[in-house]
Amino acid sequence: MKISKRKKEHLEICLNKEVEGKNYFNDINLVYNALPDIDFRKIDTKTNFLGKKLNLPLIISSLTGGTEEAREINKTLAKIAEKKKIGFALGSQRAMIENKKLGETYFVRDVAPSTLIFGNIGIVNLKEMKIKEIEEALDKFGADALFVHLNPAQEVTQIGGNLDFKNSAKNLKKVVERIKYPVVVKEVGLGISREVGEIVKDCGVRGIDVSGTGGTNWIKVEKLRGGKISDNLLNFGIPTPCSLLELKNLGIDLISSGGIRNGVDIAKSLTLGAKICGIALPFLKIYEKEGEMGVIKYIDELEKELKIVMFLVGAKNLEELRNTRYILSGFVKEWREQIK
Ligand SMILES: Cc1cc2nc3c(=O)[nH]c(=O)nc-3n(C[C@H](O)[C@H](O)[C@H](O)COP(=O)(O)O)c2cc1C
Repeated sequence: MKISKRKKEHLEICLNKEVEGKNYFNDINLVYNALPDIDFRKIDTKTNFLGKKLNLPLIISSLTGGTEEAREINKTLAKIAEKKKIGFALGSQRAMIENKKLGETYFVRDVAPSTLIFGNIGIVNLKEMKIKEIEEALDKFGADALFVHLNPAQEVTQIGGNLDFKNSAKNLKKVVERIKYPVVVKEVGLGISREVGEIVKDCGVRGIDVSGTGGTNWIKVEKLRGGKISDNLLNFGIPTPCSLLELKNLGIDLISSGGIRNGVDIAKSLTLGAKICGIALPFLKIYEKEGEMGVIKYIDELEKELKIVMFLVGAKNLEELRNTRYILSGFVKEWREQIK
């Protein structure tokens, strides 16, 4: 099947069907501070990532590329990212590397001249692509960094998916060493364990986006596309908060994504060790339903809620938020207790 047709089906299913998994952010309880020694109006949510300044610790996660519809979505979301000073990530660029004509459906630098922009490629595609080709694609867009996505669950459940993940770490290391862009590894919704975190850190990546379970579930998406997948597999994966706890103290910048839906989830992610957060599906859905203004309103709500939580835990900036005390309960507590 052509990549662009598959991408179209993914967008349609994610927009119209229930594709999200169980979310565990309720298991994180931030400790309330009844005596915050701060002025709410002076709370500072600014940070930087890979040398770029962000007004909020947030990026619009990789969604799409390679179709006409994708061009419009990417342009609008990137324009909003620029306006709100958050980061923006393109969807997988495999389609444009295989068919150069599709390249312009990814071009967003004209509407987002200063914001942090990530390119995107699958780890399984690294073996069949020349580093020069990937680099040229990133040059074209003035990308700041490259996301390499790890998606074995998606590939193995996808009809005609790529099943050979052998030598993935070796291929990653080669790209990290030779490409002139910083590389950040991401999952696509099943999470990253401590062991995998250590391997990719040793490959020299600059960050890890955990993209755990709790949001878009690609096994569900592939099942809805007609894959013969049993329901027994639908709960597989590492919940986002558990993945953050797995990687905490690894000594590498973490992005929290997979089921981040509101400002409270963002605050909780930062206390669990994330530098910034990523959101994918809600941006797509809100854009389709309410257009550009709806997306801007959603980002404003995220900001307001994040600031209220910061006020309520007594944190005047993100550094203080990261040091907030939390109490774990339920499944996340159990997971934490069993990390070696
Ligand atoms: C329609 C759609 C397309 C996606 N395409 C990509 C992609 O091309 N590359 C990638 O790394 N992740 C892709 N993702 C995964 C997201 O970037 C993100 O990691 C995941 O959806 C979890 O975030 P969420 O729960 O906020 O959706 C896609 C997600 C959605 C919903």
